[in-house]
Parts: sequence; C-alpha cells; structure tokens
Amino acid sequence: MSDAEAAAVAATGVSPEAGASSAVLEVNDVVVDFDTDAGRLTAVNGVSLQLATGETLGLVGESGCGKSTLARAIMQLVPMTQGSVHLEGIDLGSLSSRELRRMRHRIQMVFQDPRGSLDPRMNVAALIGEPLRVHRIGDRTSRAREVAEAMELVGLPARVADRLPSELSGGQQQRVGIARAIVTDPAVLVCDEPVSALDVSIQAQIINVLDELRGELDLAMLFIAHDLSVVRHLSDRVAVMYLGQFVETGTSSQVFSEPRHPYTQGLISSVPRADADSAARLQTARRLVLGELPSLLDPPSGCRYRTRCPYATEQCAAEEPPSEAAGPADDPHSVWCHHWRTIAESAPDSQPFITTEPAPDPQPFATSQAAPGSQPFATSEEQAI
Ligand SMILES: Nc1ncnc2c1ncn2[C@@H]1O[C@H](COP(=O)(O)OP(=O)(O)O)[C@@H](O)[C@H]1O
Ligand code: SF4
Ligand SMILES: [Mg+2]
Repeated sequence: MSDAEAAAVAATGVSPEAGASSAVLEVNDVVVDFDTDAGRLTAVNGVSLQLATGETLGLVGESGCGKSTLARAIMQLVPMTQGSVHLEGIDLGSLSSRELRRMRHRIQMVFQDPRGSLDPRMNVAALIGEPLRVHRIGDRTSRAREVAEAMELVGLPARVADRLPSELSGGQQQRVGIARAIVTDPAVLVCDEPVSALDVSIQAQIINVLDELRGELDLAMLFIAHDLSVVRHLSDRVAVMYLGQFVETGTSSQVFSEPRHPYTQGLISSVPRADADSAARLQTARRLVLGELPSLLDPPSGCRYRTRCPYATEQCAAEEPPSEAAGPADDPHSVWCHHWRTIAESAPDSQPFITTEPAPDPQPFATSQAAPGSQPFATSEEQAI
C-alpha cells in the first residue's frame, strides 16, 4: 500500500479495492443527467480519466459543455447516473456520507468565484483554518502553523491574517481559496476556471501560484479553463471536451502541436497570435468553433460535432466515433473522430489551423509572446497584494 493509500485508509477506515490502479484519481465512464423543465439533459456522457501524483490534466471546452458538472461529479457534489470515481484506490460512490466527509480533505476544489466561496464574516486565518477544524486535523497549535504555512505558500502576507474577504483584492481572495484547498494536504486539487473571474492583471499571478504549488506539493491537478494558453502552460496532459464528451486527449504537446480532432484544431487556431499571418485563417478556425452550439437536450446523432464539422460524412451522422489511438499503441494521444487519419494526411492547405510551433517558454507565466491586444496574463509588475 502506498503512503497516500495508507493516509486514505487512516482517514476513512476504508481500504482500497484489491487490484486498484496506481492512479491517484481514476474516473470511469461517468454520466451525469439533469432533469430540467425542458426535459432530461446529459451534461456528462461517458467520461473517463486518470491522474497520477504530481500530474496536471487540463480540461478545455466551450461554455456549457459539461466541465463544471464533471468536476462536481468527481467531487461527489452531484449524483452520477453511471460510472465511478476512485480516489487513492477508494470508490467514492461506495462510501457512506460520513466516510465521504472524512475522505474529502484528500480532494479539494478551487472555485471560479473566490469571493462567493468565502464566508464574509470570517477572517483570512479562520477561513484557511476552517477545513482543518472541519476535518478535525491537528490541534490549535498545529493548525495555526499549517495556516501560516499555507498563507506563505500562496503568497499571502501574514499581515492580512485578520482581514475579512471584503477587505481583500480579488487576487488575495483567490489566494485564500487556494490556501483553504491545500491546507488539508490533498492528493488531488480540482480547479474550476480559477482565474476566469479575476482581473486580467492578476490572472498570471494566480496561475503562477498554482504552477509552483503543484511542484512543491506533488499535487495531482485537474485544471479547467476555456483559455487555451493557460491550459498549455500548466498541463502535462490535456482533454478537450465537446457537448459532454471528450473528443481528444493527449500530452500537452501532442494536443497543441499535433491536434487531430477538427474541434481541437479549430480551438487552437481561434486563439489570436502575434504571428497569425492571415485573417482568413483565423476566420476559418473561428467558424469551426464559434458556430451555434447544439443543445444538450437534443444532441446530434453519431458524432456530436458533425453539425459544425467541415469534414462530416454520412458515417458521422450514423455512428458515434470510438476512441482511437492517434499514434503508436502505447501513445496516450486519443481522438474520437472517424476521419482523423484522412484529415491528418490531407494537404496542409486544407488544415490552415494546425500549428507546429513549439510551446512558448513556460516559466514564469508572463505571456509577452501573445498577440497584441490578447495578453490576458501578461503582468508587468508583481502586484503587492
Ligand atoms: N444543476 C443543474 N440543473 C440542470 N442543468 C444543469 C445543472 N448544472 C448544469 N446544467 C447544465 O449542464 C450543462 C453543462 O453545464 P456546465 O457543467 O456548467 O458546463 P461548463 O462548466 O462547461 O460551462 C449546461 O447545459 C447546463 O445548463
Ligand atoms: S467524426 Fe466526422 S463529424 Fe465528427 S469530427 Fe470527425 S469528421 Fe467531423
Ligand atoms: Mg463551468
């Protein structure tokens, strides 16, 4: 049994399943349905993923494709219609609510809206220490020490310890949100668009905090964002989601340098770049991803992307594409498209959106190379917050 599994057993009294995989987080074939006034919709439709210790998986896809629902299903905050979530070998769905509460400190979430997730009446030290109290971790002295360490890790000065959330900047509030998430020493951090609600000038700082933490704390991280440059910067692997399903997964360099699914290709090319030599190219790419998003209440038959895909055939309407390895058998690159090989083999002119450029210098996350006017993460000075 690994140290992490031993910690999980100590916390819950539940043993990992025999033969459980070495992944710290294993999500298998998860389906989440919602009953709405307009009918039943399937927000997540058969998604599987694995995360190893120290690994970051970036999850991208446009608004409404099911990213937050998947995150909430992993956190056991919405009921799953089907599928399983194993954390450190333990099937979270099989736990009683009491056992689940005991297990929660091993998987924590950072939310999009930091202010909304903080109790306005509690000061910074109390907010960060709250998960330790709730999970009955340590005593008063050790909790104070853990809080101070967490504050230091996220770059919060000790002088803000007695401030209320309303007295903090947006960046400070999100640092508190991150400190709360890491103070219980989780194995997995689920970050749901943690910078989307922040001022442009502060986003890079928060990204850099997360980047440092994942290395220092050996966290497995699921990082959700609709901004591709953020995902590229932070992620070892990337999953691209469309209408409740994954359409492409692979290492960050595979997905960004050799995207195989037409949707991924469109997403990548629709990011403005300084060297984007052709406005037409950008226009083509944007057409691929900005067309009307079909409703999850009535998704297209076969391949869900077919109503926007320029390569769609009758087969695409009739058959749901299976996952195929886009490389050698042991290659982690997977694509859900009937025609990805033909598309990849077609003339470069017909794939104006593929970029084979190397990733920009990943450290630190200040994007001086981004296109003019699209520098959401450039930070000219480290704001003292
Ligand atoms: N509690 C809910 N009840 C009904 N529908 C929901 C609920 N939560 C999310 N949805 C629907 O599920 C779909 C996916 O939403 P969400 O997971 O929030 O997407 P994303 O995070 O990718 O923007 C959307 O159509 C959304 O309206
Ligand atoms: S399966 Fe067909 S419709 Fe779907 S992405 Fe591939 S070519 Fe396009
Ligand atoms: Mg969301």
